[in-house]
Amino acid sequence: MEIPCQKRIAVVTGANKGIGLEICRQLLERGVTVVLTARDETRGKAAVSKLNNGGPKDIIFHQLDVADPVSIASLKELIQSQFGRLDILVNNAAVSGIELEAQFLNEYNNKEHDLDSILRAMIQHYEKARECIDINYYGTKRMCAAFIPLLQLSKSPKIVNLSSNYGLLRVIASEAIKSELRDADNLTEERLDEIVCTFLNDFKTDNVKGDTWPTDVSAYKVSKVAISAYTRILARKHTDLCINCVHPGYVITDITWNTGQCTVEEGAKGPVMLALLPDGCPSGQFYCQTELSSFE
Ligand SMILES: NC(=O)c1ccc[n+]([C@@H]2O[C@H](COP(=O)([O-])OP(=O)(O)OC[C@H]3O[C@@H](n4cnc5c(N)ncnc54)[C@H](OP(=O)(O)O)[C@@H]3O)[C@@H](O)[C@H]2O)c1
Repeated sequence: MEIPCQKRIAVVTGANKGIGLEICRQLLERGVTVVLTARDETRGKAAVSKLNNGGPKDIIFHQLDVADPVSIASLKELIQSQFGRLDILVNNAAVSGIELEAQFLNEYNNKEHDLDSILRAMIQHYEKARECIDINYYGTKRMCAAFIPLLQLSKSPKIVNLSSNYGLLRVIASEAIKSELRDADNLTEERLDEIVCTFLNDFKTDNVKGDTWPTDVSAYKVSKVAISAYTRILARKHTDLCINCVHPGYVITDITWNTGQCTVEEGAKGPVMLALLPDGCPSGQFYCQTELSSFE
């Protein structure tokens, strides 16, 4: 049975650690009811216990793998039956799409690392690239498609998509692709999917060339550029929703092998600010942390 709820209700994906967990903590602090989700139930429940340490908070856990439509449907059912609407969706879950060389990993714990040494030890292969695009980009799309009907029942609906400075147009070398992605008034979801598909085909056939695509951290960069472009398409289509994307900063988390420069507290500030924007704020924008920025 649906319980009428005056408090805002937020779903955060990939929230068992890193920036996602901290977004949950900051939203709770601001009086939001949080549905913390994680693909692994044990890790997710441990994260909820961590947040409840010091007294129970207004938080529930639900398993969610953004690559699995069945798990998305199950979460949707829970939100529908328990709250009858959703106010905030934070699409945070992501993977890097790369592996590190075995020898580097063997020595990993014994050394201090900077990003350059990690970049040198990186291995990219098709299966990881495909998974990265599927989780980061299509996972965000699956979540939006499932939850927009419930967000439309909110008085102040917000979608926050975690992009990256790797999701700026400058990472794409091809001027032709860049100008299509830049043309937010005419770019369609179908065309964006085609561009992403072309990248994956090029990757599969060993054709990721530096005059077209990014050659390092390729799939992650393309997934984030696609999320940025998708944010604009979605905002144009759903003028009743406030939909933005954000680079959280270069943050010390597992995805950066803890080489970042800011804390998760700093990294969560931008996404949380966008989740709580007052009505009438701009939609379809790129923020660098808490500052309105450009897609370039
Ligand atoms: N850290 C940075 O410097 C930085 C910079 C720019 C953008 N970002 C973005 O910020 C967001 C948070 O990243 P982070 O730094 O906090 O990284 P992180 O610590 O590696 O956290 C990533 C989270 O995503 C989850 N995840 C991965 N695949 C998933 C799936 N299929 N379904 C559900 N959850 C899944 C992970 O769960 P598991 O624990 O189960 O793997 C983990 O909870 C990401 O979108 C990232 O791209 C981060």
